[in-house]
Amino acid sequence: MTTDQASPLDGGALRRTMGRFATGVAVITTEHNGQRHGMTVNSLTSVSLDPPMLLVCFTRGSRTVRTVSRAARFGVNLLSARQEAISNHFARRGEDHFAEVPLDQGPLGVPLISNAIAQLVCTVGREIDAGDHVIVLGNIVHIRQRDGLPLCFFSGTYGDFHDRGNPAEFWYF
Ligand SMILES: Cc1cc2nc3c(=O)[nH]c(=O)nc-3n(C[C@H](O)[C@H](O)[C@H](O)COP(=O)(O)O)c2cc1C
Repeated sequence: MTTDQASPLDGGALRRTMGRFATGVAVITTEHNGQRHGMTVNSLTSVSLDPPMLLVCFTRGSRTVRTVSRAARFGVNLLSARQEAISNHFARRGEDHFAEVPLDQGPLGVPLISNAIAQLVCTVGREIDAGDHVIVLGNIVHIRQRDGLPLCFFSGTYGDFHDRGNPAEFWYF
């Protein structure tokens, strides 16, 4: 890859540039009228502690965002380093995403992925049109976390988190 060079602002270059922002990986899960849908995302952001809110950016028209919209609720499953196969599974179009995936039943009837390092359940607050994506603001109604290391994503590739043992120094509140 070319380094230290400005690029024309096309979709591929933008995707590669934003890919320099390392993230975790989450799977959004939802169910409406007995139909379950889910998709892998990394556009997850914590928004507000009081009231508790988060946001996810969905490709406009994706099956999952349509179902999230209808169900008005969704689950957020933060994947562990052992769940790379689940990330790939929920990123493939046209599959029965829930076949053979171990699930927990969450509050509000939301299906959750077993052994994720964190599980959250949200009701849909607002949906905001944003170019070719839809930003869904979720009101967080349930949280659960467990020990384990995260699955990480950087420049289109999965990776592992290595703890430097240095807690971040920051001022809050
Ligand atoms: C690591 C990773 C992160 C992704 N992040 C997003 C995202 O934030 N938003 C999005 O719309 N799609 C994202 N995708 C792509 C979707 O998972 C993929 O398009 C999926 O097939 C959509 O499912 P659906 O159309 O059945 O709802 C991501 C894929 C991967 C592998």
